[in-house]
Formats: sequence, structure tokens, C-alpha cells
Amino acid sequence: VKREALLVVDDEEILREFLRETLARAGYAVGVAADGDEALGALERDAYALVLMDQSMPRRDGLDTLGAIRRAHPRLPVVMMTAYGTVESAVAAMRLGAVDYVQKPFDAERVEEVVERVLEVARLREENARRVARLAPVEPSSSLIGRGPAMQQVLVAVRAAAASRSTVLVTGESGTGKELVARAIHEMSPRAARPFIKVNCAAIPEGLLESELFGHERGAFTGAVRSRAGHFEAAHGGTLLLDEVGEAGSAVQAKLLRVIQEREVTRVGDAKTLRVDVRLVATTNRDLRAEVNEGRFRGDLYYRINVIPIHLPPLRDRREEIPGLAEHFARRIAAETGRPAPVIAPEAMRKLSAHAWPGNVRELENVVERAVVLGGGGRIEADAVALDGEVCGAHGALRAAPSAGEPAGTLDRLERDVILATLREENGNRTRTAARLGVSVRTIRNKLSRWRSEGAPLPEVCRAD
Ligand SMILES: Nc1ncnc2c1ncn2[C@@H]1O[C@H](COP(=O)(O)OP(=O)(O)OP(=O)(O)O)[C@@H](O)[C@H]1O
Ligand SMILES: [Mg+2]
Repeated sequence: VKREALLVVDDEEILREFLRETLARAGYAVGVAADGDEALGALERDAYALVLMDQSMPRRDGLDTLGAIRRAHPRLPVVMMTAYGTVESAVAAMRLGAVDYVQKPFDAERVEEVVERVLEVARLREENARRVARLAPVEPSSSLIGRGPAMQQVLVAVRAAAASRSTVLVTGESGTGKELVARAIHEMSPRAARPFIKVNCAAIPEGLLESELFGHERGAFTGAVRSRAGHFEAAHGGTLLLDEVGEAGSAVQAKLLRVIQEREVTRVGDAKTLRVDVRLVATTNRDLRAEVNEGRFRGDLYYRINVIPIHLPPLRDRREEIPGLAEHFARRIAAETGRPAPVIAPEAMRKLSAHAWPGNVRELENVVERAVVLGGGGRIEADAVALDGEVCGAHGALRAAPSAGEPAGTLDRLERDVILATLREENGNRTRTAARLGVSVRTIRNKLSRWRSEGAPLPEVCRAD
């Protein structure tokens, strides 16, 4: 069977012929070019699935040609052939957009392996792009809100990703919903009943890395008193979330690349390898392409992770979602805290819609949470909406909003602050406090006695019964 067409670019005739034969025997249609200009000409005339190119060539060298190919055919994968021992030039090639490299001298097997792998990723990408294009609009799920055009695109991609097992890279600023999207992909996939495991790539200590990811046998190292499965094994049959993959150190990156390629893991201190069937979803709030360019992230790993890219735009670029999200959060938080479903006053909604939301959806969620709790149920007015550390009105009840530095505080904590502040203003009068906060006197009394028994610091006026 004729498979994809490959273009081999090398100024040395012997090598060109060796590659032509090798790859033709492996079933590919092979075109050849002796230099960069010939290569560009060949790419104009015929469609190729991959270019295998020597880095050092007379006249127009490999890197220069690579740049020209990237501009003219941005989606065409290019694998560079670099001289032995010149890691820098391989790195330079990856930065310029090569998807992989092979070092000379290489044998037939090695070239075939790299070509096969790169084409596999390219095929998956094409397939997913086609699938996304075919899909109809999606009803947002109950947990993932998205009615506007930007989120509709995301939801279509989420559904397409759920149906495949290719690796997904979810990008977006902090708080845009990357983890939620990762979970949605798992939940909509045939793997939904199997485990969803999250690994925070920034938080794995280098020394524990292998054992965390791959597990260990008893006695593998000091302190390994029991054997333990690693994250990959635990996620077998399910989905593994590589959270903040852009933070992974170079050792982690190397290990990840290996598992992605081999699909098998070895526990530390064990001789046998285990095949793992794991769907990977990675998230990052960095521009990984730029990280690759700056040499901080491996280009080959990036290429393998970024098979299905899903980008979450910042909330300020999809303001049409703000009302839907705000209402969703208000209902959920009211239900969680036993309050009636609140109505968001038009003025309050206008304030929410106009804000810049540097913290994105998470910031909106926190602001609505605070407004619901302070509003005491019923209607959320504009003065209950505290933005950017601005002190919240809440009918004058709360004097100090938690400052940006300290943890935002739990609902319980916020509630306590509000009740105590109001009590202080009312000189300890519980009836007036209850009336102002829209709750019963019994609620105030019960809460005070619980806080007292928990040893919470209560101001003087609140102590007397
Ligand atoms: N479209 C959405 N619908 C409903 N809730 C959302 C949506 N997007 C985000 N959220 C909520 O916003 C919060 C932040 O989302 P999430 O943790 O997924 O963000 P993230 O991009 O992973 O952030 P970070 O980069 O800081 O880890 C979560 O509580 C999540 O449930
Ligand atoms: Mg996250």
C-alpha cells in the first residue's frame, strides 16, 4: 500500500538514496531534493505529509529552509537531521518549528520510527480537525456554562476530544476553566466510569518524580516500605490530567515524553514494564510555543501534547458569558448555603459585565459568592458586588473585605465576619442584626453559640447571651 508522501532533503547523494530506499521499502512515496531551493520548489508542486531535512547544506542551509517552509506551509511537519554531538543545532531547529530531529549517523530503524511517530500525530490532528468541523452546536452541560460563540467553539472541541483518545492541551489564563474543561472531556468520554487522576506537574519534587508518576516496588529505595502504583497506573483505562504542564522541570519533561511514546511504565525497582491505557489531558497558562522558542520546554514533547488544542479565551473577551455564569454561581452558592435563589439586580449585573476580570471566571465566582453571602438571600444589589478588593457595602455591614494577600476566606468565615460586624454596629442587638441580614434571630443565636463552642474570637458585645 502507498502511504503518505515524504520529502527527503540532503545535499549528500549517498544519504539521499539510502533514505529513499529505506522509506520506500517501508511503504512511503518518497520525493528527494538536493538543497533548500529544490525542496521549496518540490513543496510547491506536490503535496507532502512530512519533510526530512539535513541541517547543514551548502547555499541555503537547513535552518533557513526550515523557516521558509514554516511560513509557506505552517502545518507541514519537518524533521531535521543534525550532525552527531551538535545538540545546540537540534535545539535551534526545534525552536524554529521542527517537530523532531534525528542525529547522524542513524540507522534505518531509527528514521522509520521517528517518521512513523510524527505522522501518527499529524494524522490524529487532521482527524480531530475534521471531526470538530462536522459537529453541530452543543448544549452546554450543567457544570460547564457556555452559550456565546467563543464557548460554543470550546464545547464543540470538548465533545470531539471526548470521542477520541488523543492528547489534549487546554490553554488559557489562570481561572478560565481549564481544569473544568479537562473534567468535562473525561466525563463525556467512554472512559467516564474509569478514574480521572490529576497530577500537578509544578508540585512534584524532582527526587520523588519517578515513583510518583510510575510507582515503586517495596524496598526500591529507603522509605519504600510498601509497593505503590504511580499516577499513570492509577489512571489506567481512564484519564490523567497533567495540570500546569508548563511548570514541569526538564527531568519530568523527559519522563513524560518517554511514556507518551512508549505507552508503558516501569515501577521504580521493578524489572517488568506495564502497558498503560491512559488518555492524557494537559493544561497550562503559559504560551508553550514561546517556552519552546526560549528553550524552556521540549519541542518534541510540545508537539506530542498539542494534538488537540483547546484554548479558553479570557473572560474579558467573552463578556456575553458573564450574566449566565453569575446566575449559575448565585444559584449554586445559595443552594449550598441554604438560601433562596437570589435575583441579581440589573445595576449589579451591569457592574459585573463592565469589570475587566483579571482573575477570569474564578474571580467572578468569588465575587458572586461573597455577594450572595453578604446579601443574605433575595436580591443582589450593586453595592454587594465588591470588585478589585474594593470594600463591600452589603448594607454597610462589612467593614473589611479580606485583603488580596490573605486567603479569600471560606464561606463560614465570611458569614462570621458579616454577622459580627453587624452585631457590633447594632451594639449587640440580635433582633435588629437579624432583621438587617434577613435571617431569623434563632439563626444568629445558633451561630453565635456554635462559634463560641469552637473557641472563635468574639467581640465584647456578642458575648452576653
Ligand atoms: N464555563 C464555566 N462554567 C462554569 N464554571 C466555570 C466555567 N469556567 C470556569 N468555571 C469555574 O471557575 C473556577 C476556575 O476554573 P478552573 O479551576 O477550571 O480554572 P483554571 O483555568 O484551571 O485555573 P488555574 O490556571 O488557576 O488553575 C472553577 O470553580 C470552575 O468551576
Ligand atoms: Mg487549573
